[in-house]
Amino acid sequence: MNSSIRIATCTIFLSVAPYCAGQDLNATIENCNGCHGEGGVSQWGDMPTIAGIDAFTQSDALYVYRDNERPCAESKYRTGDTSRSPASMCDVAADLSDDDIEALAEHYSGLTFVAAKQEFDAALAEKGAEIQKRECDRCHSDGGANADDEASILAGQWMPYLRTAFEQYASGERPQDKKMKEKMDLLSPDDVEALLHYYASQQ
Ligand code: HEC
Ligand code: HEC
Repeated sequence: MNSSIRIATCTIFLSVAPYCAGQDLNATIENCNGCHGEGGVSQWGDMPTIAGIDAFTQSDALYVYRDNERPCAESKYRTGDTSRSPASMCDVAADLSDDDIEALAEHYSGLTFVAAKQEFDAALAEKGAEIQKRECDRCHSDGGANADDEASILAGQWMPYLRTAFEQYASGERPQDKKMKEKMDLLSPDDVEALLHYYASQQ
């Protein structure tokens, strides 16, 4: 009886991803949620919400972290046992196999993105909407809300996190798509500020 239940559970995991060790995956997800929040929805400005971001972007990010090719600041755990030692995304990804990465990306992409409740300046947001439409909408459609673009989710992501992302692209520390760089290089500091308020305004 018991063993047939176990086999059934294993088959369910196999059907969604090449992953049979359901227990291990759950423990890993709990670790991720210790920083990213319950269900991958962050309550902290410097921590990105990962729920609902497409699987391609997420797996790609994890491979890049594993290769130490994207800045990864040490961070404290935010929920659960917050006395765990701080860690960086590079530390976290170092322990993941390719199968882990694919299974995690699949898991979080299937959860619902929840826009952050945060303050924004309405006039700046209006200016940002125009810039977004002109320069970014081709890859970040629906105002940056469309996960099907496989270009992350910008609409409703935390402003402090996105501000850091813009800085890291501008300094060249974070690798970016060549075509996106052409567009990013056109932006003045005021344009970036307006875009940040526009993405924050979508709640
Ligand atoms: C100790 C805290 C911590 C843990 C644990 C953690 N993360 Fe992160 N994660 C972060 C921080 C902080 C960032 C923001 C960028 C940075 O500094 O690396 C981030 C960024 C990311 C990103 C990039 C998001 C984007 O929009 O580009 C993904 C994907 C991600 N984490 C997935 C995971 C997964 C999956 C796990 C579990 C295996 C995990 N994280 C565990 C802190 C953590
Ligand atoms: C040619 C397609 C393309 C264009 C044009 C483009 N982007 Fe992107 N963008 C991407 C892709 C793909 C990603 C996800 C991959 C990554 O992590 O860099 C991304 C990621 C981002 C991120 C990081 C999101 C995160 O979760 O960390 C920001 C911020 C961003 N883009 C802003 C912009 C802005 C602002 C514009 C317009 C000025 C723009 N992009 C134009 C393709 C594009």
